[in-house]
Amino acid sequence: MSFTVAIDGPAAAGKGTISKAVAAHFGFAHLDTGLLYRAVGAKVLTGAEPIAAAEALMAEDLEADNLRTPEVAQAASKVAVIAEVRAALVAFQQTFARRAGGAVLDGRDIGTVICPDAEAKLFVTASAEVRAERRYLELAAKGHKDTREEVLADVKARDERDTNRAEAPLKAADNAILIDTSDLSIEDAVARAVAEIEARLPA
Ligand code: DC
Repeated sequence: MSFTVAIDGPAAAGKGTISKAVAAHFGFAHLDTGLLYRAVGAKVLTGAEPIAAAEALMAEDLEADNLRTPEVAQAASKVAVIAEVRAALVAFQQTFARRAGGAVLDGRDIGTVICPDAEAKLFVTASAEVRAERRYLELAAKGHKDTREEVLADVKARDERDTNRAEAPLKAADNAILIDTSDLSIEDAVARAVAEIEARLPA
């Protein structure tokens, strides 16, 4: 049996945390699709050509340890506008989504483009200020020196690029359940997501 949970939303809205918790709760496999674009972005920063890098991407590339930096995030958002880069990453995501035992995929276009037939779709969002503050604290804890203003500018620049691109823009699917985490604790956001998915599981 396959069961796909699509979780989309902007940077630092809580998608990652919710996706991991939901996958653990239901025993589903989890794919953070942002890592695919980050891995391509990281290769481009070292001189690779974006489409070639996407076509040659390997599972090991998703484990590189520099993928969580703001530089790589921006590079990811830039390569993600290229139609051929996105096309090169579709099959891997769709195969993952239909694996036996259930899968959670989080990203920007999972419910709209990659898995339009997903059994459960969530769109997780929060205000830019709340998201920037969370990302700032996360980066500071890892020793990054970025200021609050820089992190907010970075979040807004990515929102702008991800939302306004022609190819698979960041957008809630018509049948997605909206979860705004601005005023929710992690526990409450996860509980909301679990309840919505539970309601869609086959009896
Ligand atoms: O989710 P993230 O912050 O790791 O994603 C990094 C960038 O990758 C994001 O700014 C846009 C791009 N991305 C995308 O275009 N489509 C996805 N499904 C996931 C990420």
